[in-house]
Formats: sequence, C-alpha cells, structure tokens
Amino acid sequence: NPQSTIPIFSYIYLFKAFEIKKYFEKNYILSMNIKEIQLRILFVCLGNICRSPAAQGIMEHLLLTDYKNINNRVIVDSCGTIDFHAGNQPDRRMREEASKRGIILDHRARSINLNDLKINDLIIAMDDSNYNNIIYMGGDKNKVKRMIDFVEDKRGYDEIPDPYYGGKEDFNLSLDLIEDGCRGILNYLIDKYELK
Ligand code: 4NP
Repeated sequence: NPQSTIPIFSYIYLFKAFEIKKYFEKNYILSMNIKEIQLRILFVCLGNICRSPAAQGIMEHLLLTDYKNINNRVIVDSCGTIDFHAGNQPDRRMREEASKRGIILDHRARSINLNDLKINDLIIAMDDSNYNNIIYMGGDKNKVKRMIDFVEDKRGYDEIPDPYYGGKEDFNLSLDLIEDGCRGILNYLIDKYELK
C-alpha cells in the first residue's frame, strides 16, 4: 500500500542527503588543507653570495609579479655549503646586475644545516658539487634537485656556472639561467600540487 512506502523513501532520501553533505564537507576540508600548505624552497650554492641569493631574489620577484596568485603558497630561502661569507650581503656585482633587472638582493649569507634538509620541500642545488654535498649531508633525493634540470633554454650548460671569478657577462648568464629555472620550478609546483 502506497502510504507505507512513503516513510521508506523518505529514509532513503535522508540517507542520500547525508551522504552528499559528507561528500561536500570532506572536499571542503581537503581544499582548506591544500590552501594552508606552504611549500618551502631552498636554493643552495657554494658561498651564498652569488647564485643562490640571486635565485631567491628572482623567485620572490616572480611571486610578486607573474606568479602573484600563488605568492602565499611558497616560502623561499637560500644558503651556501660553506660558511666563509656568512653574514655578508650578496656579491656587489650580482647586486648591481640584478638591480638593473628591477631585483633587489638583500639576503645575508649563511651556511646550510641539517634542519634545512628537514623543513624544505624542494632543495635546489646550483651545480653538481653543491648537489653532491647536500646528498652527502643526508639530503633526500626526492627533494634535492639540480637547478639546470628546470631550465628550458640551457644554452649548452649542465649546471649553473659559478660567476665569482668571472665578469659582468658571467653574472648576467647566471641571472638568465636562474630566471628560466625559477619559472620552471614554479610551473612544476603548480602542476604537482595543483596550485591555483
Ligand atoms: P656562489 O659563488 O657559490 O654562487 O655564491 C661563490 C662565492 C664565493 C666563492 C666561490 C663561489 N668563494 O670561493 O669564496
């Protein structure tokens, strides 16, 4: 009889409604968590006065300009594998060439420590020697990557060359490769973590 079937259907509807509510809650919570995650990127070179502070400055600049929509999702830092220049400003030549591109480098040099290996999601080595030193310290190969692997126009280089003993053109070559690599890293992260 039709009267007795009504309560059964309404139970089914109630149950369905509850499932739908749970589904939305779960996805809402998931999307909240994803929004809150901040990715840490650490750039590493030898002295932390030329290449890695330039990478940090360029990355921060990109996060305020072309990639400002994901600015709140990424934290950037840099360090060196040696502490010889600890506390120093970036190399004057690198600051000058970067400032011509509208990028102010105000990092103070420091050397890498074991905590850096733990707290960072991506550790970007400028050259193979930096890479090997970070791995030797215990860096996780899933996190430690080479900058050159993110560079689209590698210009025949298989690492970011050290400009320290070079001239202006070497600093500009570093800056070109590093900017290309920074864009590559951001595009990789946007893809991997579905950043919006
Ligand atoms: P960076 O360049 O590793 O890109 O900061 C260098 C800085 C200092 C030295 C070498 C490279 N140094 O021999 O002191």
